[in-house]
Amino acid sequence: MTVPAASPATAGPAIVMRGITKRFPGVIALDDVSLDVRRGEIHAICGENGAGKSTLMKILSGVYQPDAGTLEIHGHVARFAGTRDAERAGVAIIHQELNLVDDLSVAANVFLGRERRGRLGLIDDAAMERETERLLATLECRVSPRATAGSLRVGDQQLVEIAKALSLDASILVMDEPTSALTEAESARLERTIRRLREHGTTILAISHKMEEVFRLADRITVLRDGRHVRTVERAATTPAEITGWMVGRDIAGHAFHEPRPRGTKLLEVKNLTLPRPDHPRGYRLSDVSLDLHAGEIVGVAGLMGAGRTELLETIFGVSPPDWTGEIRVAGRPVRFHHPQEACAAGIAMVTEDRKRLGLFPDLDVAGNVSLCKLSAAARRGLLSRAREEALVAGPIRDTGVKTPGPHAAITGLSGGNQQKCIIGRWLLTQPRILLLDDPTRGIDVGAKAELYALIDGLCRQGMGVLLTSSELPELLTLSDRILVLAEGRLTAAFDRGDATEHRILEAATA
Ligand SMILES: Nc1ncnc2c1ncn2[C@@H]1O[C@H](COP(=O)(O)OP(=O)(O)OP(=O)(O)O)[C@@H](O)[C@H]1O
Ligand SMILES: [Mg+2]
Repeated sequence: MTVPAASPATAGPAIVMRGITKRFPGVIALDDVSLDVRRGEIHAICGENGAGKSTLMKILSGVYQPDAGTLEIHGHVARFAGTRDAERAGVAIIHQELNLVDDLSVAANVFLGRERRGRLGLIDDAAMERETERLLATLECRVSPRATAGSLRVGDQQLVEIAKALSLDASILVMDEPTSALTEAESARLERTIRRLREHGTTILAISHKMEEVFRLADRITVLRDGRHVRTVERAATTPAEITGWMVGRDIAGHAFHEPRPRGTKLLEVKNLTLPRPDHPRGYRLSDVSLDLHAGEIVGVAGLMGAGRTELLETIFGVSPPDWTGEIRVAGRPVRFHHPQEACAAGIAMVTEDRKRLGLFPDLDVAGNVSLCKLSAAARRGLLSRAREEALVAGPIRDTGVKTPGPHAAITGLSGGNQQKCIIGRWLLTQPRILLLDDPTRGIDVGAKAELYALIDGLCRQGMGVLLTSSELPELLTLSDRILVLAEGRLTAAFDRGDATEHRILEAATA
């Protein structure tokens, strides 16, 4: 069902929520939330990790049913028993963790459960592929409808999810942190798409932790805190600082750790590292990269997406096939890891950017996910005592500020940002000498970020060394003692703290 477009002047709100309450075991995720969303506006939802943003959007799109409260869509009371009901009312959601079926083609994903059929009742692949191609073209996305979804970059997967929403003719589109995994260019492309959809009258709700993006795009902003509605304001009538203040309801610790850290022994040395890739247009992913990392140091690696930042960290960690040339030394000893386990044994840990694929074990509880690397041997022998595990994970859960009803809550019940904190906690437990952080604070709220920065700073003061990438330059500038810049797989610049500015880094990154 498509909802007939009404003229904005005469039409009531697109969405009216009244007194929405949702409880999970041990938590009130939403407490009496009321909110109106105007037709055709871009409405941003802000709040700390665990504030209830995703839960509210899941109620709007039929994933969850509220325990109390009412929902109206375009003036009609809506009681969605599932997402299909919501889709029929014109509401589509793109989840924080993408939901494509990796093994199916792009077109099959777009039409999953609503396959187009020809005259004989056979699935009409050609028709679905044509339609998918048309939808993707409107999104400036050039992937083939026949490609398998799992082979796409996250940014393209996101656009496939949007194509799916467009194919449903959704009049209300909900996006849960749509840009958290996107490159700068992909984010810009998505912003154009979102604006275009608004021009065509689509109502858009978007959750984001990126304040600049919120202020570029949103017409109005709603802030949630601890499951409660704090404020809904016109974007033009507020500031990022004001929004942040409402989100956290307290002062955020400033970056009060600019005191120089003592630099210790050399932990890691990379010399003339080249990572060939014959199937890659330039023939290599990394070329002639050299760097070193000392105890007590945070070295930032800047660069545009695709510049080779993740490859660099993964090569050091033994994730990529060991077909690189050059030299990697850990504590002076030449190494060539064939598997991350070997890197762990040598005192290296890595936090990756893609928590769904590489990090979370949905069948394990919070404690199980955090203690995984530390206790896996004991657990395999069935010796793992609950008490020992609890004692072990208490520290990292506290230090990283994971919000959870308890150590044995389901990891899948935690909000996205809190899941990420569990993964960071897991690696801290292995007490690495060298910590590789690949965009570690993706999806983590401002308050928690500040706490994590302080934690990392503290660990470096005790002798750890950190190699850090981030999609947010201010984060690199805040944390790093030195910043190296990669462009197209090569090092193009190195800055000491103080010499680095966003402008100079960007210049080197596009060199
Ligand atoms: N399926 C579930 N089972 C149990 N608890 C849940 C479930 N879904 C959400 N919660 C809890 O509800 C609260 C709100 O979570 P929600 O995912 O809505 O947060 P969020 O604002 O989206 O956070 P983030 O920014 O980290 O994504 C959290 O305390 C979370 O642990
Ligand atoms: Mg969320």
